[in-house]
Amino acid sequence: MRPFVFYNPTKLYFGAGQLQQLKAEADKLGKKVLLVYGGGSIKRSGLYDETLSLLAEAGCTVTELAGVEPNPRLSTVNRGAQLCRDNGIDWVLAAGGGSTLDCAKAIAVAARFEGDFWDIVTQKAAATDALPIGTVLTLAATGSEMNAGSVITNEDTLDKRGWGCPYSFPRFSILDPKYTATAPKDHTVYGMVDMMAHVFEQYFHHDALTPVQDGFCESVMRAVIDTAPKLVEDLGNLEHRGTILYAGTMALNGVLGMGTLGDWANHDMEHAISAVYDIPHGGGLAILFPNWMTYVLDDNVGRFKQFAVQVFGVNPEGRSDREAAEEGIRRLREFWNSIGAPSKLSDYNIDDSRLEEMAEKAVIRQTIGNFRKLTREDVLNIYRMSL
Ligand code: NZQ
Ligand code: ZN
Repeated sequence: MRPFVFYNPTKLYFGAGQLQQLKAEADKLGKKVLLVYGGGSIKRSGLYDETLSLLAEAGCTVTELAGVEPNPRLSTVNRGAQLCRDNGIDWVLAAGGGSTLDCAKAIAVAARFEGDFWDIVTQKAAATDALPIGTVLTLAATGSEMNAGSVITNEDTLDKRGWGCPYSFPRFSILDPKYTATAPKDHTVYGMVDMMAHVFEQYFHHDALTPVQDGFCESVMRAVIDTAPKLVEDLGNLEHRGTILYAGTMALNGVLGMGTLGDWANHDMEHAISAVYDIPHGGGLAILFPNWMTYVLDDNVGRFKQFAVQVFGVNPEGRSDREAAEEGIRRLREFWNSIGAPSKLSDYNIDDSRLEEMAEKAVIRQTIGNFRKLTREDVLNIYRMSL
C-alpha cells in the first residue's frame, strides 16, 4: 500500500425525504442562489417545483441556468459565471445528473476567477476560491456528488477534459432514490457502466497487499452486477435505485482508491470519443473497457484472475490463470450486453475516419494510464479493436 491523504468534506444526505434538508443548508449558505439544471427532466419529475418551494421557504431569491447539456460545454459555464457576477449570487445549487453537477462546479469556480476558466481546466492557472456548491443528484453514475471532479467540453476545440480543485467539492449533496427513478433505461445503464468503470480504474493496479481496498471494490462491483438486471426490468423500484445510487457514490468518492495507483486510461480514451462524437460517457466506456482489458491482460494476469473469481464467480479449477482471467473479461462483456449497453463504436455509427484525431486528444502527454502506460499507437490499437 502507498502512503496517501484522504480528504472529502462533502456532507451527504441520503434517502427518502432528505430534500427537506435544503432549507437548513440554504440558511447557512445565503439568500441568492443560482439554480443549475439540464434539459427539463427535473421539471417532469416534480423536483423543480419542490426545490423552488423549499428555497422560497428559506427566503432565497433564485436565478436559473437551464439547459446544461449532457457533456457540458465551456460556453454554458461562462454564461453561468456571468449570471453569478451580475446577480451577486451567494451559492450554486445543481439539480440533475453528473453533467449538471460538473457544470455547477465549474461555474462556482469561474465566478470567482478573473481570467479564462479554460486555463484552470488545462492547468495553466490555479483556482483560488469558489462559490459554495450544493447538489441534488438525479442520476446514479459519475460520483460527482461526492468528489471534486468535473469534466467540461470546449466546443470550439472539441476537447473534453477533467479538472478539479479543493474548492470544487460540493458542500452538501442530497441523494433521494426517488429522484433517480425517472431516469430512462439507457441512461440508467450508462450510469451503471460508468460506476463499474470507476471501480475498474482503481482496482486494476500493480500494488501488492491491498486486501481491504480489493474487498471494497469487489463488493461494489458485485452489488451492481447483482442489482442491475433487476433494476432494468423494474426501473421504478426504489430499493434497487437506492443500492445503485449508493454504489455510484462509493465508486468515486476517494475511498476505493486509497493507497493504490489507479489507471484512468479508459477515461482519457473515452473523453476523447465523447469530445468528438458527443456520445454518452458510459456508452463509450462499455465499448472500450473489455478491449483495454484484453490488450493489457498479460501485464498482470493474476489481477484479472482475481477479478474473474471474486467478481463474476468464475471457477478457476481446471483452468490456467490466463483462461480464468479471459473468462472474467468474457463475462463482463456478456453482462454489459445483457443489460443493453453498447459494445462497438459502430453502435454509435463511429467509423475509423477520426481515430487518429481522437488518439491525439486522448494522449495529451507521452502516455496515459498506469496499469500499462499507453502510447498513441496503443490507444489507436484499442480504438481499432473497438470498431
Ligand atoms: O438534462 P436532463 O433533462 O436533466 O436529462 C438528463 C440527460 O439527458 C437525463 N437525466 C438525468 N437524471 C434524470 C434524467 N432523465 C430523467 N430522469 C432523471 N432522474 O440523463 C441524461 C444524461 O445526464 P448526464 O448528467 O449527462 O449523465 P451523467 O450523470 O452520466 O453525467 C455524464 C457527464 O459526467 C462526466 C462525463 O464525462 C459526462 O460529461 N463525468 C464526470 C465525472 C466526475 N465529475 O467525477 C466522472 C465521470 O467519469 C465522468 O467523466
Ligand atoms: Zn466515468
